[in-house]
Amino acid sequence: MRIDIITLFPELLRSPFEESILKRAIKSKKAVINFHTLRDYAYNKNKQVDDYPFGGGAGMVMKIEPIDLCIRQLKKERTYDEVIYLTPDGEQLDQSISNNLSTKKNLIILCGHYKGVDQRVRDHLITREISIGDFVLSGGELAAAVLCDSIIRLIPGVLGDESSALTDSYQDGLLAPPIYTRPANYKGWEVPKILTSGNTPEIEKWRESQALEKTKKTRPDLMEDHG
Ligand code: ADE
Repeated sequence: MRIDIITLFPELLRSPFEESILKRAIKSKKAVINFHTLRDYAYNKNKQVDDYPFGGGAGMVMKIEPIDLCIRQLKKERTYDEVIYLTPDGEQLDQSISNNLSTKKNLIILCGHYKGVDQRVRDHLITREISIGDFVLSGGELAAAVLCDSIIRLIPGVLGDESSALTDSYQDGLLAPPIYTRPANYKGWEVPKILTSGNTPEIEKWRESQALEKTKKTRPDLMEDHG
């Protein structure tokens, strides 16, 4: 998978790709990430990328020309499955969106800043608008890191243990059950006996019931979908 990220602040985005699972995915070429600094596509000599809103009001608006130029150049080189704009008023990211995007070949992600982008960018250049939650960040960069992490880890071969993405929270519509590791007893805080019993079918049953209980308590809304 190739992801082209268009941003005013690439430095905000680099470090998540330089550690752990994302770093490995990039090293093994399962994911190719390219940053494009919007200022490099600005037209005038002041490298202007934003301007005052028509009609007045607070905040600056990201101009269409540099964004259009950047996307046009990228599209000359390859076909993109989606051109995603990260914005708090987009559709809310969930595991099924991440699963779907993880099967794509080429993605463009545009990070907004200030008041956001000129509406014509959204109307004519963007194919999908995604929010990572009902809160407002200072810009789309951190949201882009969240989105990329959630999809890259799902690309086959990226996680060492293939089954481990399948047992994540949300993957079966439930929250994940509790997990433990050694020591079995720490300061008298004991691991549930069933987990050290070696009885795999019973352990599976226990995990399922714990997942159900946790979901009912923390996210009852998910129970409706689970049936
Ligand atoms: N940009 C600012 N806030 C955001 C959010 N919640 N999701 C995606 N992009 C954003």
